[in-house]
This record gives sequence, structure tokens and C-alpha cells, in this order.
Amino acid sequence: MNNEIKRRRTFAIISHPDAGKTTLTEKFLLFGGQIQVAGAVKSNKIKKTATSDWMEIEKQRGISVSTSVMEFDYEGYKVNILDTPGHQDFAEDTFRTLTAVDSAIIVVDSAKGVETQTRKLMNVCRMRNTPVIIFINKMDREGRDPFDLLDELEQELEIKVRPLSWPINQGQKFKGVYNIYENKLNLFTPDKQRVTEKIEVDIDSDELDGKVGESDASKLREDLELVDGVYPGFKVEDYRSAEVAPVFFGSALNNFGVQELLDCFVEIAPSPKPTKAEERTVEPEEAKFSGFIFKITANIDPNHRSCIAFCKVCSGKFVRNQPYLHVRLDKTVRFSSPTQFMAQRKSTIDEAYPGDIVGLPDNGIFKIGDTLTEGEKIHFRGLPSFSPEMFKYIENADPMKSKQLQKGIDQLMDEGVAQLFVNQFNGRKIIGTVGQLQFEVIQYRLENEYNAKCRWEPVHLYKACWIESDNQAELENFKKRKYQYMAKDKDGRDVFLADSGYVLSMAQEDFKDIRFHFTSEF
Ligand code: G4P
Repeated sequence: MNNEIKRRRTFAIISHPDAGKTTLTEKFLLFGGQIQVAGAVKSNKIKKTATSDWMEIEKQRGISVSTSVMEFDYEGYKVNILDTPGHQDFAEDTFRTLTAVDSAIIVVDSAKGVETQTRKLMNVCRMRNTPVIIFINKMDREGRDPFDLLDELEQELEIKVRPLSWPINQGQKFKGVYNIYENKLNLFTPDKQRVTEKIEVDIDSDELDGKVGESDASKLREDLELVDGVYPGFKVEDYRSAEVAPVFFGSALNNFGVQELLDCFVEIAPSPKPTKAEERTVEPEEAKFSGFIFKITANIDPNHRSCIAFCKVCSGKFVRNQPYLHVRLDKTVRFSSPTQFMAQRKSTIDEAYPGDIVGLPDNGIFKIGDTLTEGEKIHFRGLPSFSPEMFKYIENADPMKSKQLQKGIDQLMDEGVAQLFVNQFNGRKIIGTVGQLQFEVIQYRLENEYNAKCRWEPVHLYKACWIESDNQAELENFKKRKYQYMAKDKDGRDVFLADSGYVLSMAQEDFKDIRFHFTSEF
């Protein structure tokens, strides 16, 4: 079992939309032998057939709404890639997926540098001490100066960086990268069908001049000297403890620098780490199985209405048909057809090890964050819900279907699609999301999966915050004073719906004994 754990690499590729996450994922799958069409990525072809566009809505919009899992063997390693939605309106989905990974690769566009979503995703990685590798993509285009980019990464992402490869020019003049980690030169052939050759060349030799030209060779030598002067030598421990992010340069589209990244990644990335439960820390090597649900997705196959709960194995071995304890329900459950995923394909598995993701058929018994064990009552801590940024009243548009609507809303909220708050004053339901698109997804899914119709009505709110206090009298007083703005979340906790930043800061000012939280876990 220890060998199985050691060879596992469970990670997510994350980026601001359009930086090249999908392209890079596809190249990884190519090296893993999971797809055969080398580099034809320009391809919406692969985008549509090989990756994670499970839900109908994704197909329609060409954006990745759900998170899927792709696994493959590479050089003796078992690689599990957790795909995340690229669209920022589904950021929460991505955040949640990051609770199930042991490391992450962040893709940055060489011309755009650090973008909003890169920053937010890095914050989540930092919260959980997740080690990250940064891939600076699109070197075949005119981008920014590599040193400037590295400075920006350090400043904006608040992490020390260490380049492990270095580009020789960029854009039209891009000639390749020098692999600092392996001391090899990789020359660029803008050929999407072939993996580039590696040439071992002494950085001080004339051969280098012959290969890339005199001026580029001397520029490279200068740059590398500067790199060595500015950045301390690379230590794997610093990366694994999330203090330093190794940086690679390349072009995912042209399949350049990708294999170098993958080779280094499997070597240095951490195998499954211990997982914190409320009661204790669970080590992956423990004999008994435990795991948690980090994602629930409906309707993978539009012909069969089914839900799949994604379970990350934290310890022990998961075995098909074994009785496991569903801790929240205090109920024994068995799974006769657990599945493993490969983009649109899935297959039944008999066992899974720590780091693996198992798909469990779900007929409504799971919520995000649920724990499964062999009997021990422990609770893994999920990622908290974040205070939503947009709010709307949800109303029933078909009075004959109110039951269906209720069921649909409940299940979508358990899936973590959005957050539901019930206003205590008028009993109206408010849905909070991080983006406009989620409202459309909810409406679409309610209609298509639950046969229910909803209507949105505007509600003017600025923020929802969870409140608590040790001073019970003050809490009660606050709730009385703000009764029109008090709501309950789906777990029955008190939430204050502030309609402006001013109101919120006044409330914070006036009620010093009350703590206002912007995430649901405190
Ligand atoms: P995302 O998942 O992060 O949103 O990005 P995705 O991989 O879809 O890439 C976004 C666009 O950037 C795509 O172009 C893709 O072809 C392009 N791209 C990815 N890597 C590179 C690279 O190394 N160099 C260059 N020059 N472009 C790259 P698109 O026109 O939006 O889509 P498509 O029609 O080409 O598929």
C-alpha cells in the first residue's frame, strides 16, 4: 500500500480563463497515453470530445461547468488530474476541488501575467498550504520580460519563485528553453505533432552558440547568471512546504516545455498528504479507509438521470461492496459500482488508494463535505462557503410544480452550486452566487432535471455574513434590530444580509461583540 500511495500525484491545473489550462491538460493526457491526437488542440475537437464537458449546458456554452477527474499512468506514477471549471462564475467549484488535491499547477499567460482569477486561486492554495508549480504559457507569442514576470508573480501571488527553466527569446524569435533543473537545452520546433528533442549541451560550450546563435547564447548565459544570483538554489522541501513555487516556461499549444514540466512535476510533487479531520489528523498510510465528498455532479449522462458524488480517498484502501459508515447520517452504505473517470469515459473499479478519486452513485444521500469511514466517527473539514457576491429572490414560476422546485433547489444547494438563504422576515428564498452565469445554470438545471420552473426577482444586497457572538443578549438585540435583514443558511445558521457596505461597517461599529464572518467556517 505504501508504494501505491507514494506513486500517486493528485493535483489540479488552475488558471485565469484563457491562459491555457485546457490545452495543457490535454497535452498531459497525451503524454499519459489517454488521448492519441497529438496536439491537435487548436481543436475545439478535443475540447468537445476529450475533456470534461459533461453537462449539456457546458456543451452549449463551451465552458467547463463541472469538475471532472482524469487519471493516467506515467513513468510508474499514477497521475490524477482534477479538472476545474475555467469560468470565474464557477470559482467556488474550483475552490472546493482544491480541497481534494495535494498540489497544483498554475498556468499564467506570458503576455497577461497575473490576472484576477490567478490571484484568487493562489489565495485558496495558500490557505491550505498547497504546493504550486507555475507554468508560464504562450512563449511563442510576444509576452513580457521573464524577469518582470517573475517579479510580478512574487509580488502578486505572495510566494517566492524559482525558475527551473529559462526561455531563449519569445514570440517569433522564440528558440527554446534551457532546462535548469536538468541542465539540458530544449530547442523549439513549432510542430504540434511531435515532442521536442532534448539536447544536452554545456552552457559554456561553443555548441550552444552553434545551436541558438551567438547573441542569444550569450544573452542566455547572462540571464542564467542573473537567475542564479537572484534566486537561491532550488530545494524540493521548500516547494513541498509551499514556500517556493518552481517556474517553467513553454507553450502548451505547441507542446513545448510540457513534458519537462510533467517529468519534473511527477518527481517533485507530493504524494497524498495527511488530511485534517475535526477530531484528528488522518495519515494516508492508515490501514482503515476514510474519505470525503468534495463534489457532487448531476446528469453526467443526460439519458440517465444520475448523480455522482466524488470521494477523495484519504486513508486506507477503498474496496467495492464493502460496508462503510456515512458519518453524518450514521448509516452503513455500500457501493456496488464505484467508478473511475477518464474525461467522458468511466469504468467500474474494485479498489482505490489514498489520493484517488472515486465516483459514487448518489441518490441524494450526500452533501459536500460528507465523510465516509470504516466506522470511526470523524469529520473532514471542507473548504468553507464564501460570502456570495450576487443575490436574487427565487420564485416559483409554475405553481403545479412547487414540490419539484423545492427538491431541485435542495439538491442543487447540496451540490454546492450556489447558496440559499431564507429571509426570516418574509420567508422568501434568496439565492447567492459568485457570478451571473450560475443563475442561468440553476434555472436551466431546474427545468431540465427537475421539471420545475423558477423566476428571478431582484434583491438589493451587498454581502451576506455569518454572525456569532459570546454575548447572547447582544446577538439577540442585533437580530431584533435587523430583523428585516436576518436570514438562515441551509444549515440553519444566522446570516446578516447587508444591503450596503456602509450598513455593514456601521453594524460592525455598533455591535462590537458580534463577529461578522465572510466564510461559513469559523
Ligand atoms: P483555458 O482552459 O485556460 O481557458 O485556456 P485554453 O486552453 O482553452 O486556451 C485558450 C486559448 O489560448 C486557446 O485559443 C488556445 O489555443 C490558446 N493557447 C493555449 N496555449 C497556447 C500557447 O502556448 N500559445 C498560443 N499562441 N496560444 C495558446 P482559442 O483561440 O481561444 O481557442 P481554439 O479555437 O484555439 O481552441
